[in-house]
Amino acid sequence: MALMTETTTLVIFGASGDLTRRKLVPALFELHRKQRLPQGFRLLGAARSPGADASFREQAMQGVLAHAPGSFDASAWNTFAAGLYYLEGDFASPQEIVRLKARLTELAGGRDDSNVLFYLATPPQAYTGLVESLAGAGLTAAHSGWRRVIIEKPFGSDLESARQLNHALHRHLREDQIYRIDHYLGKETVQNVLALRFANSIFEPVWNRNYIDHVQITVAESVGIEHRGRFYDSVGVLRDVFQNHLLQLLAMIAMEPPASFDPEALRDERQKVLQSVRPITEADAAQHTLRGQYQGYRQEEGVDHASPTATYGSLRLFIDNWRWQGVPFFLRSGKCLAAKTTQVTIQFKSVPHLMFPLPAGQAIRPNALFICLQPDEGIHLRFEVKVPDSLRQFRSVDMEFHYAEDFGPQAIPEAYERLLLDAINGDASLYMRADGIELGWALVDPIRRSWDAGQPELQTYIPGSWGPLAAETFLGADGRAWAMGCGDGQASDPDHGVPATTPTVKA
Ligand code: BG6
Repeated sequence: MALMTETTTLVIFGASGDLTRRKLVPALFELHRKQRLPQGFRLLGAARSPGADASFREQAMQGVLAHAPGSFDASAWNTFAAGLYYLEGDFASPQEIVRLKARLTELAGGRDDSNVLFYLATPPQAYTGLVESLAGAGLTAAHSGWRRVIIEKPFGSDLESARQLNHALHRHLREDQIYRIDHYLGKETVQNVLALRFANSIFEPVWNRNYIDHVQITVAESVGIEHRGRFYDSVGVLRDVFQNHLLQLLAMIAMEPPASFDPEALRDERQKVLQSVRPITEADAAQHTLRGQYQGYRQEEGVDHASPTATYGSLRLFIDNWRWQGVPFFLRSGKCLAAKTTQVTIQFKSVPHLMFPLPAGQAIRPNALFICLQPDEGIHLRFEVKVPDSLRQFRSVDMEFHYAEDFGPQAIPEAYERLLLDAINGDASLYMRADGIELGWALVDPIRRSWDAGQPELQTYIPGSWGPLAAETFLGADGRAWAMGCGDGQASDPDHGVPATTPTVKA
């Protein structure tokens, strides 16, 4: 009878990079502090950069101190750091991978049946070579322990390259061994969309075309492209965040209730939403999309001086199914915008008949539900009340839930904590399946081709604004406007955001 395996090793390829220091090590350390890592857990950093166990431990500690200082605790760190190792080499080479295999066996106390999770945090060009090399050395075949591979984004740069990559992975790995990251799915507040919708009975009955006028999804960043000029210039906003994060948010908001909490049931429902999205064709893109570039972008390091790359985009999408027919979903994202905020607005319809005699010029606003994903995580419901001691004045008020108030300021874990733990536990619910990735590309590819051909025209915008001027009218002429309901910037201005769509009734 096979002995029970006792060790679990996470091998990070590309361990000298930023992601390891900023996100992965702090997330693993937090899991260690919460005693959620399996017994005998080890982290083996692998990269081409020269290094040794001691220097890797030091860099890891600096990473935690710099990026998650609140969680540092010297005694917990010492026990965690004792399980960190480093191996230098180019592991796409068949000779070098043998050294990695030997090190893994050594770390597992001479056994080769341990659980191993490989994390590909390298540049994407290295993915295929690494997986071939791992397979060639027999490292992807599970004997008694399991073998899994996490693939960082970007997963391909268009449908064709994503298909090729899936094909290359499937030559050596079963789909259930592949964990494709979209870190948005790991965010606590994104997962809470399911709780909001399916653990409450008051929202779902109105979550459809009969009550909802439109939906907005905003992923706004105040920072520019930072030091990623060369990479970003070849990617742009559409590939960087729409193909993955925004489409996955859309899927969480629009999906049907899954039959169970089973990973495949969840992924199936997200997939069905994407299958129902009406594709924006190249011919439609000028009408249903908007693209912009912040002023000064072309002077950023690594960026082409005549670059046409969009740093801002908006899409108008429709979902062709019974629940959502005719309800527009407005998606927007950009760099160098006025605030860092990710939020979803569920904009309800106006009341069918207004019997209140409002003062001239006053209107009442339709209800809105704001799902605030970051930074001030929470949920706000906006509704109308009568201004006290007035005859017939109304005002919008918010009923607000803030995570920090109810659960404490540190309650929200980093997305990578959830995702790493899920991969260790073999739960792929929050990871992308091959078909989901490909469908995401199939939806953005025609838009990107149209943008590459100059349609719609590239607009510029002032850093610190809310994007190109045309963004203001993108939602249409019928009174819709971008809403900011999550307590950020414009939200405090009661007149900004969702406008009145109910016709004014004369007093
Ligand atoms: C990444 C993009 O996937 O998501 C970045 O490549 C972007 O350009 C980042 O800044 C945004 O993530 P978050 O979690 O900060 O909203």
